[in-house]
Amino acid sequence: MEIVSTMADYKRAYEQSVAHPEDFWSEIASDFVWKRKWDKVLEWDFKNAEVKWFIGGKMNITENCIDRHLAERADQTAVIWEPGDPGQKARMITYQQLHDEVCKVSNVLKSHGVRKGDRVCIYMPMVPELAYAVLACARIGAVHSVVFAGFSAGSLADRINDAGCKMVLTADGAFRGDKKVDLKKIVDEAVDKCPSVEKVLMLERIASKPSMKAGRDFDWQEEMNKADANCKAEEMDAEDLLFILYTSGSTGKPKGMVHTCGGYMVHVGYTFRTVFQYQPGQIFWCTADIGWVTGHSYILYGPLSAGATTVIFEGIPSWPDQGRFWQAIERHKVNTFYTAPTAIRSLQQSSVEFVEKYDLSSLKILGSVGEPINEEAWQWYNKNIGKEKCPIVDTWWQTETGGIMISPIANVTKLKPAFASFPLPGVQPAVMDEKGNEISGNGIEGRLAIKFPWPSIARTIYGNHQRFKEIYFSTFSGMYFTGDGCKRDDEGYYRITGRVDDIIIVSGHNLGTAEIENAIDEHKAVCETAVVGFPHDIKGQGVYAFVICYEKPKDEEKLRQEIRDTVSKIIGPIAKPDKIQFVSGLPKTRSGKIMRRILRKVAEGDTSNLGDTTTLLDPTIVDEITRGALG
Ligand code: WT7
Repeated sequence: MEIVSTMADYKRAYEQSVAHPEDFWSEIASDFVWKRKWDKVLEWDFKNAEVKWFIGGKMNITENCIDRHLAERADQTAVIWEPGDPGQKARMITYQQLHDEVCKVSNVLKSHGVRKGDRVCIYMPMVPELAYAVLACARIGAVHSVVFAGFSAGSLADRINDAGCKMVLTADGAFRGDKKVDLKKIVDEAVDKCPSVEKVLMLERIASKPSMKAGRDFDWQEEMNKADANCKAEEMDAEDLLFILYTSGSTGKPKGMVHTCGGYMVHVGYTFRTVFQYQPGQIFWCTADIGWVTGHSYILYGPLSAGATTVIFEGIPSWPDQGRFWQAIERHKVNTFYTAPTAIRSLQQSSVEFVEKYDLSSLKILGSVGEPINEEAWQWYNKNIGKEKCPIVDTWWQTETGGIMISPIANVTKLKPAFASFPLPGVQPAVMDEKGNEISGNGIEGRLAIKFPWPSIARTIYGNHQRFKEIYFSTFSGMYFTGDGCKRDDEGYYRITGRVDDIIIVSGHNLGTAEIENAIDEHKAVCETAVVGFPHDIKGQGVYAFVICYEKPKDEEKLRQEIRDTVSKIIGPIAKPDKIQFVSGLPKTRSGKIMRRILRKVAEGDTSNLGDTTTLLDPTIVDEITRGALG
């Protein structure tokens, strides 16, 4: 495939991708290994939320990510595993070893009855075995559903049940800084409520020796010892399911986004090589967890399809100290470093001594993803980490888009801090006004939609196509709606301004306010709740909850703690409210709809102009809420 390497290339590629999208993607797809070539490149109907790419094509993504590299790079490191504890030795896994381990896990899965099309839930820490597990599913055609190992038993059970998973792959536990989390305990609690689960495979990580249920639970290592290191890759149709990945929805029920094999492979492979200008031999580190889409696409599938060396990091940025990232960059001579604004902001608070201690001269390219990066964080990243020599690619995309959509191309696009800049070739954005008309020209602001399909667009919400259609294809007729607001400046640069719906992004994690409200309502003292986001220095957005109790709380602090624990237990610690304000009522319209606009203003600490409150059922409640606002 031709990789854009100048602005003139970009313009040419972009124009071709709009004028002849099928030829454009067909040429890119030809650089992957197919068992059978497609008959038709694209069929689509956005009105019915239907998209198909590379129709009739047959392939297996693991042959592209592993087997095809064996001739040239069997002994090259595919994965560098940096353990959470810096005192432990890193593990280097070559492409040959990756092949063998993935095949072994594939055979273990098969021996436990997993077949093509079956769903497998993966709930594991950031260890190499997590990568093997994901790739093994793909190899045998099982659909992986990775659940971030910070989710609670209840959230895990919901996801397992929604997808009807047959098997769960997990570990006894995980290290989180100097703490240990008992994952197997959480899995046991979840699986009790999951009738579809027949088997659980458990990797030993923290030597906790949890109880094992005979006939259901199996030890990873024992099973691997029996497994063969060769396993033929299943022939998959381009449109067969590759994975389900849950993302928060505004109704409180998470959405199982479905991605298929062919288009996803082509899009993430192409964008990895284009955006990061990947050169053979380079070392790429994306700090996300594999439990999020960023990890799926840019720790595993994108880099491996390009034959790169990819880093899997088990630790956290702040333990044993704030220099952990920089130490690992020095240790592994990382060339490209891709992280989230929330991590940058939190490290920015610590002394630059933590950075200066380490040699970061291997770095060539920096990336940012997950939420808008504020200019201050951008400048700090540029100066202290990139030493003003590394371009920062601010990549905008979503779980639903599968891969990067709007982003600078490293060393090609002239950068503007806090701008995701231009759409990649093949991506056709539109900025829409509230009436649903496209706004043309530059120097404008509106809602971001996409006019034309791209190969890695999610195909549906698992088990609920109607919901998929309503959420993404009914706001603007004939277009995909992103849920984000954006600006397009005088030079045509895009700046993503944040969500315009009821999703908040806390430390780069996408959370639905309804989901948090439901969790808070589970506390027996709570009658009703409204949750909004508020600007938070480190997390980007924090969670602000307005809570009505049945009785006036006697000990507010104690109740706050209990509510936080409830949310932690039901969803996971990431969703814990930062601020909880007890109120006697909520600002509601006559039809009963909560006026979140007002609550958002209060949470932001800006009550000077709350707009029109006369349509409220009880306008006096606004005064009470404003007076009690938490600073
Ligand atoms: C939402 C998607 C992209 C994978 C990780 C998050 C926000 C993401 C950017 C960016 C501004 C961004 C958007 C988007 N977002 N990247 N570079 N600039 N906003 O995936 O959990 O599906 O969240 O993250 O609001 O809609 P996700």
